[in-house]
Amino acid sequence: MNFENRDIISILELKKEEIEFILEKSAYIEDLVNKKEDISFLKGKILANLFYEPSTRTRLSFESAMKKLGGETIGFSKADTSSVAKGETLADTVRTVEKYADVIVLRHTKEGAAKLAAEYSNAPVINAGDGAGQHPTQTLLDLYTIKKEKGRIDNLVITIVGDLHYGRTVHSLTHALSKYSCKINLVSPKDLRLPQEVLNDIKDTNSEVYEYENLNECISETDVLYITRIQKERFVSDLEYNKVKGSYVINKTILESVKSDMIILHPLPRVDEISCEVDETKHAKYFDQTYNGLIVRMALLSLLLGAI
Ligand code: NCD
Repeated sequence: MNFENRDIISILELKKEEIEFILEKSAYIEDLVNKKEDISFLKGKILANLFYEPSTRTRLSFESAMKKLGGETIGFSKADTSSVAKGETLADTVRTVEKYADVIVLRHTKEGAAKLAAEYSNAPVINAGDGAGQHPTQTLLDLYTIKKEKGRIDNLVITIVGDLHYGRTVHSLTHALSKYSCKINLVSPKDLRLPQEVLNDIKDTNSEVYEYENLNECISETDVLYITRIQKERFVSDLEYNKVKGSYVINKTILESVKSDMIILHPLPRVDEISCEVDETKHAKYFDQTYNGLIVRMALLSLLLGAI
């Protein structure tokens, strides 16, 4: 399987075997890291981080991954410090940056931005989130975490809660899970249901998928609870946001009715959907998940740059 020079735009473009291959390579990298082996595979290579939207984990983990592999990073974390502020198009920015970097990581406000960038770049482009579209590397690290914690992805009950409409991590994750044989519970307020086209894609794969508004209806059978933030910035008004704000909150009382080995994941940042008291419980895996993000991105960069 060869990933050299490939763009990573949507999880839909990856076959199940390819996802599994990336997860295996991630485990390999994690093992090398644990054994403190030399991993400077990307010495002399440059990664450009182009972030038109806020980010903590995605941008810093790509940066850290590249540096741990011996490479360098350039880029911006606010478009208004680049020529974008002077009116430069994404296409022109990408046509410039591909001359300076071996791989481009792009986060943008508009759906389809990464796809467009890939058309103008000879260097591989990684979609780090395009509006309410996709976030494929988050999904790879989510799957890696599930596999690491539960030993498998198949035959699990995975309950995804929160803003399923605007949450791009959920769009990518549900697409990926539909390649496995797990049961998917979707829990959201009516107005924040998974977009119909994503739901249709998943149903087309004959996946077992159920929709709920009330988390109590499916929490006790859940193996993996994946909760997300309501995506305030994508709402048309504060009024609309306030109607659904705080719809779901995981606290210690709710945990009384869950399986003893249920794990809680969250792409982060959290706002109010997981009480801090949950952080100290055995169920909380969201900070381990952020470490896995570093490992998976190290593996992905090494693959795209032909180093492993
Ligand atoms: C997510 C994103 O940007 O889509 N964050 C992340 O990359 N971990 C989730 C979010 O912002 O809610």
